[in-house]
Amino acid sequence: MADLHHIRITVNGTPYEATVESRRLLTDFLRHDLGLVGTHLGCEHGVCGACTVIMNGRTVRSCLLFAVQADGAEIMTVEGLARDSRFHPLQEAFWEKQGLQCGFCTPGMLMRAYEFLQENPNPTEDEVREAIAGNLCRCTGYQFIIEAIQAAAARMAGSAGVR
Ligand code: FES
Ligand code: FES
Repeated sequence: MADLHHIRITVNGTPYEATVESRRLLTDFLRHDLGLVGTHLGCEHGVCGACTVIMNGRTVRSCLLFAVQADGAEIMTVEGLARDSRFHPLQEAFWEKQGLQCGFCTPGMLMRAYEFLQENPNPTEDEVREAIAGNLCRCTGYQFIIEAIQAAAARMAGSAGVR
């Protein structure tokens, strides 16, 4: 018989309650139970970073967590970046600088970049390169991603209140 747990999770500001099996991955909970398919599942063992989301202010690999481990947590996924029908400056910069090709790595890249720019709002190219070193991209060669993150940093610095 399945081992069931009742959990409460806030995702992108919306509170959810659900009953999940103890083995339910957080990625599967977000994608299949909540329909938030922006979070991608790649390697499924913590290597590629495609599944990166922010939990209680820090990036985590949602493929390495069970949904029950996020009970009581606040989660932010890529769907939470845009506000009031406007893309976040990171999303705009990725678009303008061609920081993506197939887009598979992009949600995880954006979440890692979001966290990183909170810590370091004016990074050098080397700092950006190091910050995203744990997120793998098979298409872009990374250069345009790095330029996009620096462009977003400049834009955010110029518009007070953008988080
Ligand atoms: S799918 Fe989670 S790190 Fe690759
Ligand atoms: S854009 Fe294809 S994996 Fe990064």
